[in-house]
Amino acid sequence: MSKQAQYYTRTAQWLHWAMAAIFITAWLIGFYSGNFLSYAVDGDFKGNVITLHKNIATVIIFLVVIRIFWRYTHPTPQLPDSMSAPMKKMAHYGHLALYFILLALPITGCLFSWSAGHPAPVLYLFEIPRLVQDNPQLLAIVKPLHIYISWFAALLIVGHLLAALKHHFIDKDFVLKSMLKQPK
Ligand code: HEM
Repeated sequence: MSKQAQYYTRTAQWLHWAMAAIFITAWLIGFYSGNFLSYAVDGDFKGNVITLHKNIATVIIFLVVIRIFWRYTHPTPQLPDSMSAPMKKMAHYGHLALYFILLALPITGCLFSWSAGHPAPVLYLFEIPRLVQDNPQLLAIVKPLHIYISWFAALLIVGHLLAALKHHFIDKDFVLKSMLKQPK
């Protein structure tokens, strides 16, 4: 295998770590607001926390488009030969599921917000144009969907993290390094 083929491109690495940081931050803020704050007790503070959640989370929509484009136009490192075929298959479906949540959470989040009559703001700079207006029937679907997918995302990300650590510390292969380093 050539040296370059062992590593993700620098752009792919930046996208990976920037999106991981933004996604996890958005997840924690959403979780905090959804499970520890209420309008009755916390009033405006809860509104401000949800607004912060949205302003951070919507960035993922723009980055995921660039990321998918990059993924299909640049080579990615192969998984180590030491991995069995079923493990490679599992890694492949795990990665597909991660792309699914990167798309599904911001999309259901925006639909959740719009159908409840609120905007989908980006970095406190502008709003994503509304694709739906206030819609209680849609809200009744997308709200639980957003919450269930966010829990699925938590499981998936913990699994992804554990797999990366196992590769690095137990299997001692180059999988984690391929997302951190560049060929010399
Ligand atoms: C990276 C994308 C996103 C992640 C990881 C994420 C994650 C979460 C989580 C973990 C919750 C709490 C679920 C619970 O109650 O247990 C939540 C709630 C919520 N999310 Fe998101 N979300 C994302 C995108 C968005 C977007 C783009 C919007 C709207 C523009 C949005 C709007 C909301 C709203 C309104 C709530 C309810 C908060 C509350 O009831 O206090 N989310 N989200």
